Amino acid sequence: MIGLRGAIDHRLAEAFRALDLPPELARATPSDRPDLADFQCNGALAAAKRVGRNPREIAAGVAEALAAAPEFAGVEIAGPGFINLRLSDAALSARAGEIASEPRVGAQTVETPRRVLIDYGGPNVAKPMHVGHLRSSIIGESLKRLYRFRGDETVGDAHFGDWGYQMGLLIGAAMDADPWIRALVEDLNAAGTELSPAAEAAAFAGLEARISLADLDRMYPEAAALGKTDEAYRNRARRLTAELQSRRPGALLLWRHFARVTQVALARDFHALGVDFDLWKGESDADPLIPEMVADLEARGLLEDDQGARIVRVGRQGDKRDLPPLLVVSSEGSAMYGTTDLATILDRRRTFDPEQVLYVVDQRQADHFEVVFRAAVLAGYAAEGQLEHIGFGTMNGTDGKPFKTREGGVLKLNDLIEMTRDRARDRLREAGLGAELAPEAFEATAHQVAVAALKFADLSNFRGTSYVFDLDRFTSFEGKTGPYLLYQAVRIKSVLRRAAEQGLQPGDIRIEDPSERELALLLDAFDDALSEAYERRAPNLVADHAYRLAQAFSRFYAACPILPAEGEVRASRLALAGVILRQLELCLDLLGLSAPERM
Ligand code: ARG
Repeated sequence: MIGLRGAIDHRLAEAFRALDLPPELARATPSDRPDLADFQCNGALAAAKRVGRNPREIAAGVAEALAAAPEFAGVEIAGPGFINLRLSDAALSARAGEIASEPRVGAQTVETPRRVLIDYGGPNVAKPMHVGHLRSSIIGESLKRLYRFRGDETVGDAHFGDWGYQMGLLIGAAMDADPWIRALVEDLNAAGTELSPAAEAAAFAGLEARISLADLDRMYPEAAALGKTDEAYRNRARRLTAELQSRRPGALLLWRHFARVTQVALARDFHALGVDFDLWKGESDADPLIPEMVADLEARGLLEDDQGARIVRVGRQGDKRDLPPLLVVSSEGSAMYGTTDLATILDRRRTFDPEQVLYVVDQRQADHFEVVFRAAVLAGYAAEGQLEHIGFGTMNGTDGKPFKTREGGVLKLNDLIEMTRDRARDRLREAGLGAELAPEAFEATAHQVAVAALKFADLSNFRGTSYVFDLDRFTSFEGKTGPYLLYQAVRIKSVLRRAAEQGLQPGDIRIEDPSERELALLLDAFDDALSEAYERRAPNLVADHAYRLAQAFSRFYAACPILPAEGEVRASRLALAGVILRQLELCLDLLGLSAPERM
């Protein structure tokens, strides 16, 4: 189904062609003046310039050709040659009915599906997640859902930060904290071999009893602070990192324990947020490919020595600013952030072979990715444009700096969710739901409202923009907020439920009222919103569409009572409400939200 906007483009193109005008100029866009028209076409002006004729004359010719088309109730020329198009109620009714009958409620799929890998989340072992990880998770999850819904084959990879300097810091700190752990690591290293399965299980049990996630949370900031001030401490952490990377059994065993503990907790937090990964891979997974990669870079003549380190220069002629080289092997012999990223590109090529990779990471890492991508292209690991950094701004506090807790520490995802849930509970109580819902349902609803508040606040801005964390505004049931969207969905559900209780059936959709016209036009515009969101990697366009639907429903519900109406009018309004709910819930799902039954 090409949809109404598509059909209009088609009519316009026919008319342009018949008048010997360039058909690519025949395009309809939603009107700037909805009171005068539904769509407008500005192509007569551009065409006039091209063929050197009067634009109003051209517009008149096009209007005449369109007059007979059944879609239009009015075709008018305005100003210097704009063509204003008003659709007929019949055309809108037919299109709304068609959308109601489609499982995808008016959405198309891409012509050529691709394999797309989305690298998002990016939490680090043992380090608490900060707002950058939160934004990455929210935006990445939404992009993954959007790409999948449009028909691409997608894989979401958490790309855990589990192979860097912080691991050396933690290994050292754990050995300092407990003599049993120190002995375990040293014995294993001395033996130089891995443990038997039984001995390994015993070692893990011992580690589990000694180091929990809470211990890691406490140990990491202490160790990181020491590493900053104490050179010997820092050097030991570097050496331990190198030991880990050369897979010495002691370091490796501790590392596996840390990774396991962190991953379980992260999976739980992410899941609570409606974020789920297909792959829980990390930097460490690319490590085995590093030796052959280094040899390959060497063979291609791309590696250079630089004061004991090995680098790949990525500067290009015409660069406006200098990019640093890719640091492949540090002077201590360690793999760096960029090394694992480059090796991961190889790893992904061998496993999933993605045609496109989107890296949903803080804008401040733009240079890092530019360097890695250029190195990948130089080495022939990726084609130009195949790897794409999807940067985003920060979530700030009222001081304009990236959001921190009141104590000034980094924000933990769990605490943020809990804080938002608290506020959501208040809001629900204010709305009188405290007494109405059973405690369990109340909690579940508070959670849905909290997740909607957080995610929608994030996704309703274009990702490049930074925004201020404002819990009061995010959780409000009014305005452009997640809870407002849920609330409108809940209102529709409640009408539909009552209708079903009374045995009322939806019928043919008949668009009559202006508020119904608005809804029908929005239903038709869904696919354009999705395809633009997809092209621009911009979930905020889905958020905008959802918000417009919710507002338009609210106007419709005020102007056109549903249950008190009768006969075919009521059946039509019920059907319209039903299809609006389906499209709205689809948008919510693409944003990673879901509406409760009541709120
Ligand atoms: N772990 C990184 C960080 O915390 C983010 C990882 C992003 N993905 C990547 N392939 N580099 O900053």
